[in-house]
Amino acid sequence: MRIDILTLFPQFFHTPLQNAIFRRAKDKDLVSFNVYNIRDYTHDRHHVVDDYTFGGGAGMLLKPEPVFEALEDVLKDRLEDELPIPVILTTPQGQTFSQPLAYQLAQHKRIAILCGHYEGIDDRIREHLVTHEISIGDYVLSGGELPALVIADALVRLVPGVLGSEDSPVTDSHSDGLLEYPQFTRPADFRGWKVPEILLSGNHAKIAAWRREQSILKTASRRPDLLAKTSLTAEEKKFVSGLALPQADADVNEQSK
Ligand code: ADE
Repeated sequence: MRIDILTLFPQFFHTPLQNAIFRRAKDKDLVSFNVYNIRDYTHDRHHVVDDYTFGGGAGMLLKPEPVFEALEDVLKDRLEDELPIPVILTTPQGQTFSQPLAYQLAQHKRIAILCGHYEGIDDRIREHLVTHEISIGDYVLSGGELPALVIADALVRLVPGVLGSEDSPVTDSHSDGLLEYPQFTRPADFRGWKVPEILLSGNHAKIAAWRREQSILKTASRRPDLLAKTSLTAEEKKFVSGLALPQADADVNEQSK
């Protein structure tokens, strides 16, 4: 997979892309990263990338010319028969990023991520250049660089071979619509807090059943919205209907006001 990132702050990516999962993926030649400075695609002496908003309003907008030029340059060597390359804009106005969307994007051999500008972008960029607008959550960050790293991390770990089989993404929270079950390592007794007996039993079928039940319990108590979308067996549905579930999210928010 190839990930091209277009940003006004290329230095933001230097350290993260040299560490952890990104480093692993690069070392195994499974993913390549290219970071482009949008400012390099300006032609004036001061490398101006933003301008005032037509019609008035506070703040400056990212201009269309350098962004179009940068992206056209980055995508110029695309192969004719290649699938359309997703061009992602990170913006709080986008669709919320999720594991299913990560799986969908990870099918592509190439993606480009355009890091949104804190004060906004000329809408023609969004309309004519971008294929996906993605938000990483309902809060506003100062720029699209952190969201770009979040999205890149979620995709890279889905590229076959990046993770060892021992930490396959199949067991991750969200991969089956449920949150992950609790896990423990040695010591079996730490300050008197004991690891659940069943995990020491060596009975793999029982352990799998316990983990599934724990996943369902955790999802039911923390994210009932996810549970409603997950496919459960008839027996599991009965189990869930017998649980005392927490109030819906809206009520919880109401209480915390
Ligand atoms: N830019 C600023 N806030 C953002 C968010 N929540 N998600 C994606 N891009 C953003």
